[in-house]
Amino acid sequence: MLIKIPRGWEIFQNEATPEHEYFSRRTLLKSAGFLGASRLLAASPYPAKRNPEFTLDRPVTPEWAAESYNNFYEFNQEDKQAVKDLVGPFQISPWKFEVTGLVDKPKTFDLDDIVRTMPLEERLYRHRCVEAWAMAVPWTGFPFSELIKVVEPKPQAKYVKFTSVYRPKEMPGQVRYNWYPWPYFEGLRMDEAMNPLCFMVTGLYGKPLLKQNGAPIRMVLPWKYGYKSPKSIVKIEFIGREPETFWHKFAPTEYGFYSNVNPAKPHPRWSQATEKLIPTMDRHPTLLYNGYEKWVASMYKGKEF
Ligand code: MTE
Repeated sequence: MLIKIPRGWEIFQNEATPEHEYFSRRTLLKSAGFLGASRLLAASPYPAKRNPEFTLDRPVTPEWAAESYNNFYEFNQEDKQAVKDLVGPFQISPWKFEVTGLVDKPKTFDLDDIVRTMPLEERLYRHRCVEAWAMAVPWTGFPFSELIKVVEPKPQAKYVKFTSVYRPKEMPGQVRYNWYPWPYFEGLRMDEAMNPLCFMVTGLYGKPLLKQNGAPIRMVLPWKYGYKSPKSIVKIEFIGREPETFWHKFAPTEYGFYSNVNPAKPHPRWSQATEKLIPTMDRHPTLLYNGYEKWVASMYKGKEF
């Protein structure tokens, strides 16, 4: 039998997440008798109810850290802490994204309708970048399979391709780093897209996503390196063949299609054996599939890709 001995840095779930962070806004507004508060709160889907199925073995990353240490090359690639200061001109409302390709019911979704009609929930997920930094954050979103149900893919649809927004006037990186194949694009196999962990995200820390985290809508795939989770999505296509991806196109020897977290498979520039937790940078062992083996291992039949 496998007995799990907690490591020194692990703490209990209920200690990890200060409950007041999620309820204080609601209580405060009500007790202060804030005029119209109840109407305001009724209209907002945030914070969404947390799904208790997803628990962590580590503390939740402080909000300030997750919102000020970002990879979003459309803005800056040298300095992760500079992204938040460059996103000002980026317009995220109104926002529409198109779902097209091999589907019976192609549809253009309006972001406001999405947050009103999809079953929003909060999930605590580990979040791991190929550069070896890691976080644990509360995302708000809905299972991507719910969106798939709406558009009804045809049997020939075997893969899903995601495209991020192209706005060179608002995103300085799309002009400055002209060696990249903009806009950012990514892909998943159909069973990966249908997997219950595959999450389409509109919020973080109980409120709408901030621009630096991929507002207004992004993917989150906690068993893969972060680059498989495109931000600020404008197009989703159901297709018959494995799509090219942004990072594979740019550096084919460094980035594969599957990109599952695997401590035994080093990236040419970063060992994946350990990860460093933001913001302390403490090193801890990397887990296969980032700890999500029970949900995803069967899709890869023992091969870790
Ligand atoms: N999506 C777009 N459009 N552009 C990017 O540069 N970076 C990826 C991913 N999605 C990226 C992107 C990488 S490398 C990571 S690790 C995560 O976003 C970072 O998400 P975060 O800043 O919310 O932590």
